[in-house]
Amino acid sequence: MSDSKPIIETRNLGVRAGSRNILRNVNLTISRGEVFGLIGPSGAGKSTLLRCFNRLNDLVPDLTSTGDVMFHSESIYAQSVDVNGLRARIGMLFQQPVIFPASIRENVLFGAKRLKPMSPQEQTTLVEASLREAALWDEVKDRLKQPATNLSVGQQQRLCLARTLAMQPEVILMDEPTSALDPRSTEAIEELLLWLKSHITIVIVTHNLAQAAKITDNIAFVCTNDGVGEVAEQGPRDKLLSNPESTALADYLNLRL
Ligand SMILES: Nc1ncnc2c1ncn2[C@@H]1O[C@H](COP(=O)(O)OP(=O)(O)OP(=O)(O)O)[C@@H](O)[C@H]1O
Ligand SMILES: [Mg+2]
Repeated sequence: MSDSKPIIETRNLGVRAGSRNILRNVNLTISRGEVFGLIGPSGAGKSTLLRCFNRLNDLVPDLTSTGDVMFHSESIYAQSVDVNGLRARIGMLFQQPVIFPASIRENVLFGAKRLKPMSPQEQTTLVEASLREAALWDEVKDRLKQPATNLSVGQQQRLCLARTLAMQPEVILMDEPTSALDPRSTEAIEELLLWLKSHITIVIVTHNLAQAAKITDNIAFVCTNDGVGEVAEQGPRDKLLSNPESTALADYLNLRL
């Protein structure tokens, strides 16, 4: 459960692509142990904002940011920050599962093995624990050495979650993690998230308002204003979804009624 202590905060965060503003004046507070939702129209800047939280935008040469992002009250841009370590503590799950052409076991170990040396027995224990946590163990326990590419898309997404969990992150960023999945796999992931938030903070971008209503605690609504993305409104899920203050959010919700 959320203990109301901020884990991630942004301070006047802005992002530019070359000379074009993509996001401006973003001030968000995400608390430890919550599921925080980012909703809003296509192209508003939700994915760009999410990728600020673990400095993934650093990998895009065009993008520059202003303002700050705090993780446990310390700037993630401070010189002392080890970016790979930061990305291990703040993991990421994408819309399409990213599967390496290797076995299920190797896919789980991919990041964790680079983080610290492990004996084969420690690796085996970690693989089982991570697959169990991602609710995939029973389906794959007899074929851990087989290629991960043989799994269904829903299973592949849970494998990606297991790979992220193997790094023992404090936060997982998720960019529309169920939009490529069927309803049953979607429900499996949603239930997992509700359970994972007991020890991991989750920030999720979703276009699915029923999903936002079901799994998030707080929500930020991102929309464009004069062509630049802003957070128009943020707060408790029920308040935002049923009693929005901004016209932009009311319009966005009405569009989907
Ligand atoms: N590297 C880049 N260079 C130039 N423009 C970019 C870059 N990355 C994103 N943009 C622009 O920033 C804006 C926000 O994009 P972003 O992908 O964050 O939106 P989004 O809210 O995630 O949209 P969707 O819901 O469709 O995924 C878009 O206009 C996009 O074209
Ligand atoms: Mg996006």
